[in-house]
Amino acid sequence: MINLSQYSAIFIANWKLNGNFTFLKEYYDKLKVSSNNCTVICPPSIYLNSIKTNKENLYTGAQDVSFYNEGAYTGELSASMLKENGIDFCLVGHSERRQYFRETNESIKIKCENLLRENMIPVVCIGETLEQKENKLTEEILFTQIKKSIPNIANNKNSIIAYEPVWAIGTGLTPTLDEINSVHELIKNFNSKFKNFKVLYGGSVKSTNSKDINSLKHVDGCLIGGASLKVDEFNTIIS
Ligand code: 13P
Repeated sequence: MINLSQYSAIFIANWKLNGNFTFLKEYYDKLKVSSNNCTVICPPSIYLNSIKTNKENLYTGAQDVSFYNEGAYTGELSASMLKENGIDFCLVGHSERRQYFRETNESIKIKCENLLRENMIPVVCIGETLEQKENKLTEEILFTQIKKSIPNIANNKNSIIAYEPVWAIGTGLTPTLDEINSVHELIKNFNSKFKNFKVLYGGSVKSTNSKDINSLKHVDGCLIGGASLKVDEFNTIIS
């Protein structure tokens, strides 16, 4: 398993349902991976094997994994299949999957266990909706998500948490820097086990705000959607 502690920051590009071979080639040719940081590209699964990871500190991640390990489950990809294809990371419980594909904390936990059994690193996404934030439920929602979706076998060496406020995804809105830092601190203080977890921030990260976000004490990197599709922009973020 990759030694996460060697990296000062982790940047994960979530391409969601975007990309094609031409895009991939141009992107890879221009991508400039920095030596202190871990960079992970999560393309749609059919392109996972097309990302060449022969640049140092560059890894591939899947956007999802099956709840099941094998059997009659049309359309699914298991953790062992991802592992066999050299994939090291996998997003789990992204809010789009929770919202559009009805993923629950309970199914997310099983997915994490499947990945950990294969020595892959789950990136567990948590975050509150705008309504929950306005009703001052952020802490309660995040703690429930942590408690129910992160398995006991997860630790700071084999798992990552990504805090993505749902209302900040793709909207251009972000919490204030103070809010981001204090939510990350809250997550790390959930209990002693989480103290040294890598906690990434996601939601409208761009080249213009990434430096400020990343210099926050409790932020260990970013999970980037839209801005990761523009390689020049992504290069600036990870530099
Ligand atoms: P945006 O960076 O487009 O807001 O998306 C964030 C995200 O969902 C990454 O997983």
